[in-house]
Amino acid sequence: MALNIKRPNGTEDITGKNIRKWHTVERTARDAAAEFGFHEIRIPTFENTELFQRSVGETTDVVQKEMYSVIAKETKFTLRPEGTAGTIRAMLQNGMLNEALPQKAFYILSCFRHERPQAGRLREFHQFGVEMAGSKLPSADADVILLAHTIISQLGIKNVELKINSIGCPKCRAEYHKALKAYFEDKKDQLCDTCLSRLEKNPMRILDCKSPICSEIAKDAPVILDFLCEECSDHFQKLQSYLTNLDLSFTVDPKIVRGLDYYTKTVFEFVTTDIGAQGTICGGGRYDGLIKQLGGQDTPALGFAMGLERLILTMENQGVEFDEDLGCSLYIAPMDESAVPTAMKIAKEIRSGGFNVEFDTVGRGLKAQMKYSDKIGAAFTIVLGDNEISSGTAKLKNMKTGEQIDIKLDDTLLNTFSSIALDDMFGGVLE
Ligand code: HAM
Repeated sequence: MALNIKRPNGTEDITGKNIRKWHTVERTARDAAAEFGFHEIRIPTFENTELFQRSVGETTDVVQKEMYSVIAKETKFTLRPEGTAGTIRAMLQNGMLNEALPQKAFYILSCFRHERPQAGRLREFHQFGVEMAGSKLPSADADVILLAHTIISQLGIKNVELKINSIGCPKCRAEYHKALKAYFEDKKDQLCDTCLSRLEKNPMRILDCKSPICSEIAKDAPVILDFLCEECSDHFQKLQSYLTNLDLSFTVDPKIVRGLDYYTKTVFEFVTTDIGAQGTICGGGRYDGLIKQLGGQDTPALGFAMGLERLILTMENQGVEFDEDLGCSLYIAPMDESAVPTAMKIAKEIRSGGFNVEFDTVGRGLKAQMKYSDKIGAAFTIVLGDNEISSGTAKLKNMKTGEQIDIKLDDTLLNTFSSIALDDMFGGVLE
């Protein structure tokens, strides 16, 4: 029987023309992050499971239901479900937090969560994220939110709403937990089993349970904003005034609690209605307690991550342009095997000028070669036969206009080709 192995459910292959969409998003995000003073960090794809249990939190959906874990040689490892925990672990392990603060890192990485796949929700997905450690002031929150906003608008994405909330600090949250417990207590028998256990350990997690019954009950639950202590309330007010000062429109949405346990004070999401139910294209917030919890000094921190698949889906649905693929500049067609060495030399020479050059490597006849060069969208072609090689001159054909000019195959070749090709690409545009 023929092998018929397919990719796992909830994963994607990124092939052909789609890759330029990824390059567009990654380039835009990288450039913007650099403008805001963030440096790239690369961390392992898997970590000790305990890292996520301690940071993301034992009572979250991610840890309770969605992690891909293995036991290898008696140690439990987990494929990263997100990038914050690993990045902070790396900052600690590499002594980065003993250097000048704030430390500002960005990453582009794959994440793994065993969720029910649907449009914009995958089991392997990709995040661009930033983490900033060592700033406690609300101006840092505003700057990080501005970075997310900058990337989204530089990508040309429209129709996105910025929603912000504050979920307070452990001090104000203690009071809030009491109120939540009281609210859910008499609705206990309607809650799902997971939420029933959350009621004792972490009642705030009931607020983002995906079960329809729990979320219906949660609709009328008390909101944390009514329980903020003076410091958290002041922080939140200042953040709002900074955002207004930056002309960033936002709404305060007291229902945003985020699905991960490490958050404190500010939380935010950028949401669009253009990609269906999974419309959160970016989520983040402050996590002032996490670094200490992972064994470091008490250091405030914050960040966000955006889902690259969701950004691309939004751009596709909104008809936004992606970067053009430059494609093949020159295709060289040797008429027979004796012309191949010259074809290879010309290809080497013109490539050294930064052009994409291809020649026949499958032994096609001239007609089939021309068909192929058309298929790959070559801008120019050169046909090489005995005459061209002995005279040291060939015809350079512009495939768009059909125009042909003689070109010398000597050490002036690269210069001549460059000026003709660049004129063809940018002529008229640069004038
Ligand atoms: P998160 O909200 O879990 O936060 O994920 C961030 C973003 O990743 C989401 O807004 C969404 O765009 C994307 N995303 C999440 N799950 C999936 C999925 N199954 N399929 C496709 N895209 C998905 C975090 O991960 C935090 N670490 C963000 C953060 C960084 N907070 C502070 N620093």
